[in-house]
Amino acid sequence: MLADLTGAGIRRGETGKPWRGVDPTNWQRHWSRPPSELDELDRQGLIHWPERGGMPRLKKFAHEDGQPVDSLWDDIPPVASQSSERLGYPTQKPEGLLERIIGASSNEGDIVADFFCGGGVTPAVAQRLGRRWIACDSSRIAVAVSLDRLVKLGEEQSGVLSNYGRAGSVQTRLDLPETKAAVPDMRVHYVGVYPMDRFKAVDQTQFTAFILKCLAAQADTSDSAISGWRAAREPLLIGPADPDAAPDPRHVQAFFEACLRHLQPNVRTIARVVCWRASPELIKYRSTLHDYVRRNVQPRGADLDIDFLFIDSEEFRARIRAKYPDTEDNEFFLRFTKEPVIGEIVATKVGPRRVRFEARDAASTNAGGYLVNCQWDFHYQRGHFAADKDYILSRSEFKGKEAKVAGRKFEAVLEAEHTFDRAGEHVVACRVQDNLGAEAVRTLVVEV
Ligand SMILES: C[S@@+](CC[C@H](N)C(=O)[O-])C[C@H]1O[C@@H](n2cnc3c(N)ncnc32)[C@H](O)[C@@H]1O
Repeated sequence: MLADLTGAGIRRGETGKPWRGVDPTNWQRHWSRPPSELDELDRQGLIHWPERGGMPRLKKFAHEDGQPVDSLWDDIPPVASQSSERLGYPTQKPEGLLERIIGASSNEGDIVADFFCGGGVTPAVAQRLGRRWIACDSSRIAVAVSLDRLVKLGEEQSGVLSNYGRAGSVQTRLDLPETKAAVPDMRVHYVGVYPMDRFKAVDQTQFTAFILKCLAAQADTSDSAISGWRAAREPLLIGPADPDAAPDPRHVQAFFEACLRHLQPNVRTIARVVCWRASPELIKYRSTLHDYVRRNVQPRGADLDIDFLFIDSEEFRARIRAKYPDTEDNEFFLRFTKEPVIGEIVATKVGPRRVRFEARDAASTNAGGYLVNCQWDFHYQRGHFAADKDYILSRSEFKGKEAKVAGRKFEAVLEAEHTFDRAGEHVVACRVQDNLGAEAVRTLVVEV
Protein backbone atom coordinates (compact mmCIF):
# COMPACT_ATOMS: atom_id res chain seq x y z
CA MET A 1 0.00 0.00 0.00
CA LEU A 2 1.21 3.53 -0.70
CA ALA A 3 0.72 6.29 1.86
CA ASP A 4 0.84 10.04 1.54
CA LEU A 5 4.08 11.74 2.57
CA THR A 6 2.43 15.14 2.81
CA GLY A 7 -0.14 16.96 4.89
CA ALA A 8 -2.62 19.64 3.89
CA GLY A 9 -1.50 23.28 3.98
CA ILE A 10 1.61 25.27 3.16
CA ARG A 11 4.53 25.51 5.64
CA ARG A 12 7.33 28.06 5.65
CA GLY A 13 9.95 25.84 7.38
CA GLU A 14 11.98 22.93 5.99
CA THR A 15 8.87 20.76 5.47
CA GLY A 16 7.55 23.38 3.05
CA LYS A 17 10.70 23.33 0.87
CA PRO A 18 11.21 21.27 -2.33
CA TRP A 19 12.68 17.84 -1.68
CA ARG A 20 14.37 15.97 -4.59
CA GLY A 21 12.85 18.55 -6.98
CA VAL A 22 9.27 18.11 -5.72
CA ASP A 23 7.77 21.22 -4.16
CA PRO A 24 4.79 20.37 -1.90
CA THR A 25 3.74 24.05 -1.93
CA ASN A 26 2.64 23.52 -5.55
CA TRP A 27 0.01 21.14 -4.20
CA GLN A 28 -0.90 23.46 -1.30
CA ARG A 29 0.74 20.86 0.97
CA HIS A 30 3.88 20.24 3.09
CA TRP A 31 6.09 17.19 3.83
CA SER A 32 4.85 15.24 6.84
CA ARG A 33 8.51 14.51 7.84
CA PRO A 34 11.72 16.58 7.79
CA PRO A 35 14.00 16.15 4.73
CA SER A 36 16.55 14.12 6.75
CA GLU A 37 13.87 11.49 7.47
CA LEU A 38 12.72 11.51 3.84
CA ASP A 39 16.36 10.95 2.75
CA GLU A 40 16.64 8.01 5.13
CA LEU A 41 13.35 6.45 3.92
CA ASP A 42 14.49 6.82 0.31
CA ARG A 43 17.86 5.26 1.16
CA GLN A 44 15.99 2.26 2.55
CA GLY A 45 13.99 2.00 -0.70
CA LEU A 46 10.76 2.81 1.07
CA ILE A 47 9.73 5.62 -1.26
CA HIS A 48 7.76 4.97 -4.43
CA TRP A 49 8.49 7.38 -7.32
CA PRO A 50 5.65 7.35 -9.91
CA GLU A 51 6.95 6.61 -13.41
CA ARG A 52 5.11 9.54 -14.97
CA GLY A 53 6.34 11.97 -12.31
CA GLY A 54 4.25 13.43 -9.54
CA MET A 55 4.24 13.00 -5.78
CA PRO A 56 6.54 10.36 -4.23
CA ARG A 57 4.72 8.17 -1.72
CA LEU A 58 5.61 5.96 1.19
CA LYS A 59 5.58 2.18 0.70
CA LYS A 60 3.74 0.50 3.56
CA PHE A 61 3.68 -3.21 4.15
CA ALA A 62 0.81 -5.19 5.55
CA HIS A 63 2.94 -6.76 8.28
CA GLU A 64 4.03 -3.36 9.66
CA ASP A 65 2.97 -2.48 13.14
CA GLY A 66 0.25 0.09 13.49
CA GLN A 67 -3.27 0.51 14.69
CA PRO A 68 -5.83 -1.03 12.33
CA VAL A 69 -8.63 1.49 11.79
CA ASP A 70 -11.79 0.86 13.71
CA SER A 71 -15.31 1.17 12.33
CA LEU A 72 -15.59 4.60 13.93
CA TRP A 73 -13.26 7.01 12.15
CA ASP A 74 -12.84 9.83 14.61
CA ASP A 75 -9.13 10.36 13.97
CA ILE A 76 -9.73 12.53 10.87
CA PRO A 77 -10.71 16.04 11.92
CA PRO A 78 -13.38 17.91 9.93
CA VAL A 79 -12.28 20.77 7.66
CA ALA A 80 -11.46 23.64 10.05
CA SER A 81 -12.77 27.14 9.37
CA GLN A 82 -9.25 28.50 8.68
CA SER A 83 -7.96 25.42 6.83
CA SER A 84 -6.32 26.01 3.43
CA GLU A 85 -8.48 23.10 2.21
CA ARG A 86 -11.70 24.96 2.98
CA LEU A 87 -13.83 26.04 0.00
CA GLY A 88 -16.92 27.10 1.90
CA TYR A 89 -18.98 24.33 0.28
CA PRO A 90 -21.51 23.52 3.03
CA THR A 91 -21.02 19.74 3.11
CA GLN A 92 -17.30 19.66 2.32
CA LYS A 93 -15.49 16.51 3.50
CA PRO A 94 -11.84 16.49 4.62
CA GLU A 95 -9.30 15.26 2.07
CA GLY A 96 -7.88 12.88 4.72
CA LEU A 97 -11.15 10.99 4.82
CA LEU A 98 -11.26 10.53 1.05
CA GLU A 99 -7.56 9.59 1.06
CA ARG A 100 -8.38 6.72 3.38
CA ILE A 101 -11.42 5.56 1.42
CA ILE A 102 -9.77 5.83 -2.00
CA GLY A 103 -6.43 4.43 -0.79
CA ALA A 104 -8.12 1.42 0.82
CA SER A 105 -10.45 0.58 -2.01
CA SER A 106 -8.61 1.29 -5.27
CA ASN A 107 -5.23 1.19 -6.98
CA GLU A 108 -3.40 3.72 -9.16
CA GLY A 109 -5.05 3.96 -12.59
CA ASP A 110 -8.45 2.72 -11.31
CA ILE A 111 -11.59 4.79 -11.85
CA VAL A 112 -13.18 6.46 -8.83
CA ALA A 113 -16.72 7.82 -9.27
CA ASP A 114 -18.69 10.25 -7.12
CA PHE A 115 -22.12 11.06 -8.47
CA PHE A 116 -22.83 13.67 -5.77
CA CYS A 117 -19.42 15.35 -5.79
CA GLY A 118 -20.34 18.69 -4.16
CA GLY A 119 -17.13 20.74 -3.85
CA GLY A 120 -15.13 18.04 -5.66
CA VAL A 121 -13.12 16.51 -2.84
CA THR A 122 -13.41 12.94 -4.23
CA PRO A 123 -12.12 13.68 -7.77
CA ALA A 124 -9.41 15.99 -6.36
CA VAL A 125 -8.03 13.34 -4.00
CA ALA A 126 -8.46 10.65 -6.68
CA GLN A 127 -6.44 12.75 -9.11
CA ARG A 128 -3.73 13.44 -6.53
CA LEU A 129 -3.50 9.70 -5.80
CA GLY A 130 -3.11 8.82 -9.50
CA ARG A 131 -6.65 7.50 -10.06
CA ARG A 132 -8.91 8.39 -12.96
CA TRP A 133 -12.27 9.78 -11.94
CA ILE A 134 -15.87 10.60 -12.91
CA ALA A 135 -17.67 13.31 -10.95
CA CYS A 136 -21.28 14.50 -11.28
CA ASP A 137 -23.57 16.90 -9.50
CA SER A 138 -27.01 18.26 -10.25
CA SER A 139 -25.93 21.69 -8.96
CA ARG A 140 -24.17 23.87 -11.51
CA ILE A 141 -22.41 25.72 -8.73
CA ALA A 142 -21.03 22.42 -7.42
CA VAL A 143 -19.76 21.61 -10.94
CA ALA A 144 -18.17 25.07 -11.28
CA VAL A 145 -16.51 24.86 -7.84
CA SER A 146 -15.27 21.29 -8.49
CA LEU A 147 -13.98 22.21 -11.93
CA ASP A 148 -12.00 25.19 -10.60
CA ARG A 149 -10.47 23.00 -7.93
CA LEU A 150 -9.55 20.25 -10.41
CA VAL A 151 -8.14 22.63 -13.01
CA LYS A 152 -6.00 24.30 -10.33
CA LEU A 153 -4.79 20.91 -9.05
CA GLY A 154 -4.03 19.74 -12.59
CA GLU A 155 -2.00 22.89 -13.19
CA GLU A 156 -0.10 22.44 -9.96
CA GLN A 157 0.61 18.80 -10.69
CA SER A 158 1.71 19.26 -14.27
CA GLY A 159 3.23 22.74 -14.26
CA VAL A 160 1.16 23.55 -17.34
CA LEU A 161 -1.50 26.28 -17.43
CA SER A 162 -4.87 24.98 -18.53
CA ASN A 163 -6.57 26.39 -21.60
CA TYR A 164 -9.98 25.60 -20.14
CA GLY A 165 -12.45 28.23 -21.33
CA ARG A 166 -10.05 29.47 -23.99
CA ALA A 167 -10.77 27.13 -26.89
CA GLY A 168 -7.96 26.95 -29.39
CA SER A 169 -5.43 28.91 -27.36
CA VAL A 170 -1.97 27.55 -26.74
CA GLN A 171 -1.09 26.19 -23.32
CA THR A 172 1.70 28.00 -21.56
CA ARG A 173 3.81 26.45 -18.88
CA LEU A 174 3.52 27.66 -15.34
CA ASP A 175 6.69 29.04 -13.88
CA LEU A 176 7.72 25.73 -12.32
CA PRO A 177 11.18 24.14 -12.61
CA GLU A 178 9.90 21.02 -14.38
CA THR A 179 6.77 19.26 -15.54
CA LYS A 180 5.73 17.09 -12.61
CA ALA A 181 3.19 14.77 -14.18
CA ALA A 182 1.17 14.27 -17.34
CA VAL A 183 -1.37 17.04 -17.98
CA PRO A 184 -4.75 15.68 -16.83
CA ASP A 185 -7.35 15.52 -19.57
CA MET A 186 -10.66 16.79 -18.20
CA ARG A 187 -13.97 17.08 -20.00
CA VAL A 188 -17.22 18.61 -18.86
CA HIS A 189 -20.45 17.12 -20.14
CA TYR A 190 -23.63 19.11 -19.79
CA VAL A 191 -26.88 17.21 -19.49
CA GLY A 192 -30.22 18.99 -19.70
CA VAL A 193 -29.00 22.58 -19.47
CA TYR A 194 -26.62 23.74 -22.19
CA PRO A 195 -24.64 27.01 -22.10
CA MET A 196 -25.13 28.53 -25.55
CA ASP A 197 -21.58 29.86 -25.95
CA ARG A 198 -20.26 26.26 -25.74
CA PHE A 199 -21.98 25.47 -29.05
CA LYS A 200 -19.43 27.64 -30.85
CA ALA A 201 -16.92 24.82 -30.52
CA VAL A 202 -19.33 22.01 -31.49
CA ASP A 203 -18.81 20.27 -34.82
CA GLN A 204 -21.68 20.92 -37.29
CA THR A 205 -22.45 17.25 -37.98
CA GLN A 206 -22.69 16.54 -34.26
CA PHE A 207 -24.86 19.62 -33.75
CA THR A 208 -27.26 18.64 -36.55
CA ALA A 209 -27.58 15.14 -35.07
CA PHE A 210 -28.22 16.63 -31.59
CA ILE A 211 -31.01 18.96 -32.79
CA LEU A 212 -32.62 16.21 -34.90
CA LYS A 213 -32.57 13.97 -31.84
CA CYS A 214 -34.14 16.72 -29.69
CA LEU A 215 -36.97 16.95 -32.22
CA ALA A 216 -37.23 13.17 -32.54
CA ALA A 217 -36.61 13.65 -36.30
CA GLN A 218 -34.91 11.37 -38.84
CA ALA A 219 -31.78 12.49 -40.72
CA ASP A 220 -32.14 12.77 -44.52
CA THR A 221 -29.23 11.03 -46.18
CA SER A 222 -30.56 11.28 -49.72
CA ASP A 223 -31.12 15.03 -50.13
CA SER A 224 -28.16 17.13 -49.04
CA ALA A 225 -30.25 20.33 -48.88
CA ILE A 226 -32.61 18.82 -46.28
CA SER A 227 -31.13 17.97 -42.84
CA GLY A 228 -33.98 15.70 -41.77
CA TRP A 229 -37.69 15.00 -41.44
CA ARG A 230 -39.82 15.36 -38.36
CA ALA A 231 -42.77 13.65 -39.99
CA ALA A 232 -43.58 12.74 -43.58
CA ARG A 233 -44.53 16.37 -44.34
CA GLU A 234 -42.11 18.26 -42.09
CA PRO A 235 -38.70 18.77 -43.71
CA LEU A 236 -36.08 20.45 -41.51
CA LEU A 237 -32.98 22.49 -42.21
CA ILE A 238 -30.66 22.74 -39.19
CA GLY A 239 -28.75 26.03 -39.09
CA PRO A 240 -25.19 26.63 -37.86
CA ALA A 241 -24.02 25.40 -34.44
CA ASP A 242 -22.59 28.83 -33.58
CA PRO A 243 -25.34 30.72 -31.68
CA ASP A 244 -24.12 34.02 -33.14
CA ALA A 245 -24.53 32.85 -36.74
CA ALA A 246 -27.71 32.90 -38.83
CA PRO A 247 -28.26 30.28 -41.59
CA ASP A 248 -26.66 31.03 -44.93
CA PRO A 249 -29.40 32.32 -47.33
CA ARG A 250 -27.97 30.05 -50.07
CA HIS A 251 -28.62 27.01 -47.87
CA VAL A 252 -32.17 28.24 -47.17
CA GLN A 253 -32.74 28.68 -50.92
CA ALA A 254 -31.46 25.16 -51.67
CA PHE A 255 -33.68 23.83 -48.84
CA PHE A 256 -36.70 25.64 -50.27
CA GLU A 257 -36.04 24.25 -53.76
CA ALA A 258 -35.65 20.73 -52.34
CA CYS A 259 -38.95 21.12 -50.45
CA LEU A 260 -40.64 22.14 -53.73
CA ARG A 261 -39.42 18.88 -55.26
CA HIS A 262 -41.10 16.92 -52.43
CA LEU A 263 -44.51 18.64 -52.66
CA GLN A 264 -47.63 16.53 -53.12
CA PRO A 265 -51.00 17.69 -54.38
CA ASN A 266 -53.57 18.63 -51.70
CA VAL A 267 -51.00 18.23 -48.92
CA ARG A 268 -49.54 21.03 -46.86
CA THR A 269 -45.80 20.73 -46.28
CA ILE A 270 -44.47 22.54 -43.21
CA ALA A 271 -40.80 23.30 -43.73
CA ARG A 272 -38.78 24.53 -40.73
CA VAL A 273 -35.42 26.25 -40.59
CA VAL A 274 -34.23 25.33 -37.08
CA CYS A 275 -31.68 27.90 -35.95
CA TRP A 276 -30.49 30.16 -33.12
CA ARG A 277 -31.22 33.38 -34.97
CA ALA A 278 -32.19 34.84 -38.34
CA SER A 279 -30.63 37.82 -40.11
CA PRO A 280 -32.79 40.72 -41.42
CA GLU A 281 -31.84 39.48 -44.90
CA LEU A 282 -33.31 36.05 -44.14
CA ILE A 283 -36.52 37.46 -42.66
CA LYS A 284 -36.99 39.42 -45.89
CA TYR A 285 -36.20 36.35 -47.95
CA ARG A 286 -38.90 34.37 -46.10
CA SER A 287 -41.51 36.94 -47.31
CA THR A 288 -40.24 36.46 -50.87
CA LEU A 289 -40.67 32.70 -50.49
CA HIS A 290 -44.20 33.11 -49.07
CA ASP A 291 -45.09 35.26 -52.09
CA TYR A 292 -43.64 32.65 -54.40
CA VAL A 293 -45.77 29.92 -52.76
CA ARG A 294 -48.91 32.06 -53.05
CA ARG A 295 -48.33 32.77 -56.72
CA ASN A 296 -46.80 29.53 -58.00
CA VAL A 297 -47.54 26.65 -55.60
CA GLN A 298 -51.02 27.16 -54.18
CA PRO A 299 -52.67 27.61 -57.62
CA ARG A 300 -51.39 24.13 -58.46
CA GLY A 301 -53.20 22.64 -55.44
CA ALA A 302 -50.15 22.12 -53.18
CA ASP A 303 -49.02 24.17 -50.21
CA LEU A 304 -45.70 24.91 -48.56
CA ASP A 305 -45.29 26.77 -45.30
CA ILE A 306 -41.70 27.79 -44.52
CA ASP A 307 -40.78 29.31 -41.19
CA PHE A 308 -38.10 29.52 -38.51
CA LEU A 309 -38.03 27.50 -35.32
CA PHE A 310 -35.64 29.19 -32.90
CA ILE A 311 -33.72 26.74 -30.74
CA ASP A 312 -33.74 28.79 -27.53
CA SER A 313 -37.46 29.54 -27.78
CA GLU A 314 -40.32 28.25 -25.64
CA GLU A 315 -41.84 26.84 -28.84
CA PHE A 316 -38.80 24.59 -29.38
CA ARG A 317 -38.99 23.35 -25.77
CA ALA A 318 -42.73 22.84 -25.98
CA ARG A 319 -42.32 20.66 -29.09
CA ILE A 320 -39.73 18.53 -27.36
CA ARG A 321 -41.78 18.19 -24.20
CA ALA A 322 -44.66 17.03 -26.33
CA LYS A 323 -42.39 14.27 -27.69
CA TYR A 324 -40.95 13.37 -24.29
CA PRO A 325 -43.89 13.84 -21.89
CA ASP A 326 -42.11 12.35 -18.86
CA THR A 327 -39.93 15.48 -18.71
CA GLU A 328 -42.98 17.69 -18.14
CA ASP A 329 -42.16 18.80 -14.61
CA ASN A 330 -38.40 18.96 -15.01
CA GLU A 331 -37.49 22.62 -15.24
CA PHE A 332 -33.89 21.72 -16.11
CA PHE A 333 -34.78 19.61 -19.11
CA LEU A 334 -33.35 21.01 -22.33
CA ARG A 335 -32.67 24.62 -21.59
CA PHE A 336 -30.21 26.76 -23.46
CA THR A 337 -28.67 29.42 -21.32
CA LYS A 338 -27.20 32.78 -22.18
CA GLU A 339 -24.52 34.56 -20.21
CA PRO A 340 -25.70 36.82 -17.38
CA VAL A 341 -24.77 40.52 -17.51
CA ILE A 342 -22.68 42.60 -15.14
CA GLY A 343 -23.31 46.32 -15.72
CA GLU A 344 -20.11 47.56 -14.09
CA ILE A 345 -17.66 46.84 -11.30
CA VAL A 346 -17.21 49.71 -8.88
CA ALA A 347 -14.08 49.90 -6.72
CA THR A 348 -13.85 52.01 -3.53
CA LYS A 349 -10.63 52.37 -1.55
CA VAL A 350 -11.33 51.61 2.12
CA GLY A 351 -7.84 51.37 3.62
CA PRO A 352 -4.16 51.09 2.76
CA ARG A 353 -4.15 48.74 -0.29
CA ARG A 354 -7.65 47.61 0.77
CA VAL A 355 -10.43 47.98 -1.80
CA ARG A 356 -14.15 47.24 -1.70
CA PHE A 357 -15.68 45.98 -4.94
CA GLU A 358 -19.27 45.85 -6.06
CA ALA A 359 -20.74 44.25 -9.18
CA ARG A 360 -23.58 46.60 -10.16
CA ASP A 361 -26.57 45.86 -12.38
CA ALA A 362 -25.73 42.19 -12.51
CA ALA A 363 -28.58 39.92 -13.58
CA SER A 364 -29.43 36.64 -15.28
CA THR A 365 -30.61 37.00 -18.89
CA ASN A 366 -32.44 33.66 -18.87
CA ALA A 367 -36.19 33.26 -18.46
CA GLY A 368 -36.84 32.38 -14.80
CA GLY A 369 -33.15 32.95 -14.09
CA TYR A 370 -31.58 34.68 -11.08
CA LEU A 371 -28.02 34.98 -9.79
CA VAL A 372 -27.11 32.41 -7.15
CA ASN A 373 -23.38 32.94 -6.73
CA CYS A 374 -20.61 35.45 -7.24
CA GLN A 375 -16.86 34.81 -7.29
CA TRP A 376 -13.88 37.17 -7.32
CA ASP A 377 -10.35 36.79 -8.65
CA PHE A 378 -8.09 39.63 -7.44
CA HIS A 379 -5.11 38.54 -9.54
CA TYR A 380 -6.82 37.78 -12.83
CA GLN A 381 -4.72 36.52 -15.72
CA ARG A 382 -6.35 37.02 -19.09
CA GLY A 383 -8.89 34.30 -19.87
CA HIS A 384 -7.96 32.37 -16.76
CA PHE A 385 -10.32 32.89 -13.86
CA ALA A 386 -9.24 31.43 -10.50
CA ALA A 387 -11.60 32.33 -7.66
CA ASP A 388 -10.07 33.77 -4.50
CA LYS A 389 -10.36 31.31 -1.62
CA ASP A 390 -12.63 33.64 0.36
CA TYR A 391 -14.96 34.23 -2.57
CA ILE A 392 -15.62 30.80 -4.06
CA LEU A 393 -19.19 30.82 -2.78
CA SER A 394 -20.53 34.34 -2.14
CA ARG A 395 -24.22 33.86 -1.67
CA SER A 396 -26.80 34.32 1.03
CA GLU A 397 -29.09 31.48 1.92
CA PHE A 398 -32.81 31.81 2.48
CA LYS A 399 -34.06 29.39 5.10
CA GLY A 400 -37.50 27.77 5.56
CA LYS A 401 -40.37 30.20 5.12
CA GLU A 402 -38.05 32.89 3.75
CA ALA A 403 -37.05 30.56 0.89
CA LYS A 404 -40.71 29.82 0.15
CA VAL A 405 -41.54 33.54 -0.03
CA ALA A 406 -38.49 34.34 -2.15
CA GLY A 407 -39.09 31.27 -4.35
CA ARG A 408 -35.37 30.51 -4.19
CA LYS A 409 -32.77 29.15 -1.83
CA PHE A 410 -29.72 31.24 -2.67
CA GLU A 411 -29.01 34.76 -3.81
CA ALA A 412 -25.62 36.03 -5.00
CA VAL A 413 -23.77 38.51 -2.78
CA LEU A 414 -22.26 40.96 -5.22
CA GLU A 415 -19.74 42.69 -2.94
CA ALA A 416 -16.19 41.84 -1.92
CA GLU A 417 -13.20 43.37 -0.13
CA HIS A 418 -9.55 42.61 -0.63
CA THR A 419 -6.20 43.82 0.68
CA PHE A 420 -3.57 43.71 -2.07
CA ASP A 421 -0.07 42.62 -1.11
CA ARG A 422 1.57 45.31 -3.23
CA ALA A 423 0.76 48.75 -4.55
CA GLY A 424 0.33 49.22 -8.30
CA GLU A 425 -1.99 48.05 -11.02
CA HIS A 426 -4.14 44.91 -10.55
CA VAL A 427 -6.69 43.22 -12.78
CA VAL A 428 -9.74 42.14 -10.78
CA ALA A 429 -12.39 39.83 -12.23
CA CYS A 430 -15.89 39.12 -11.02
CA ARG A 431 -17.77 36.00 -12.11
CA VAL A 432 -21.51 35.61 -11.53
CA GLN A 433 -23.49 32.40 -11.92
CA ASP A 434 -27.24 31.98 -12.31
CA ASN A 435 -29.52 29.14 -11.19
CA LEU A 436 -29.23 27.57 -14.64
CA GLY A 437 -25.46 27.45 -14.43
CA ALA A 438 -24.83 30.24 -16.93
CA GLU A 439 -21.90 32.42 -15.99
CA ALA A 440 -20.23 35.65 -17.03
CA VAL A 441 -16.95 37.34 -16.15
CA ARG A 442 -16.24 41.06 -16.07
CA THR A 443 -12.91 42.65 -15.26
CA LEU A 444 -11.68 45.94 -13.87
CA VAL A 445 -8.17 47.36 -13.72
CA VAL A 446 -7.54 49.02 -10.34
CA GLU A 447 -4.64 51.17 -9.25
CA VAL A 448 -3.89 50.53 -5.58
C1 LIG B 1 -23.69 15.98 0.67
S1 LIG B 1 -23.34 16.89 -0.81
C2 LIG B 1 -21.81 16.23 -1.38
C3 LIG B 1 -20.65 16.62 -0.57
C4 LIG B 1 -19.33 16.32 -1.15
N1 LIG B 1 -18.91 15.01 -0.82
C5 LIG B 1 -18.32 17.35 -0.68
O1 LIG B 1 -17.37 17.02 0.02
O2 LIG B 1 -18.47 18.54 -1.02
C6 LIG B 1 -24.51 16.22 -1.89
C7 LIG B 1 -24.44 16.78 -3.30
O3 LIG B 1 -25.36 16.03 -4.09
C8 LIG B 1 -25.93 16.89 -5.06
N2 LIG B 1 -27.19 16.26 -5.52
C9 LIG B 1 -28.38 16.19 -4.90
N3 LIG B 1 -29.26 15.49 -5.65
C10 LIG B 1 -28.61 15.07 -6.76
C11 LIG B 1 -28.96 14.28 -7.89
N4 LIG B 1 -30.18 13.80 -8.04
N5 LIG B 1 -28.05 14.05 -8.84
C12 LIG B 1 -26.78 14.55 -8.70
N6 LIG B 1 -26.40 15.31 -7.65
C13 LIG B 1 -27.28 15.56 -6.68
C14 LIG B 1 -26.08 18.21 -4.34
O4 LIG B 1 -26.09 19.30 -5.26
C15 LIG B 1 -24.85 18.23 -3.43
O5 LIG B 1 -23.78 18.96 -4.02
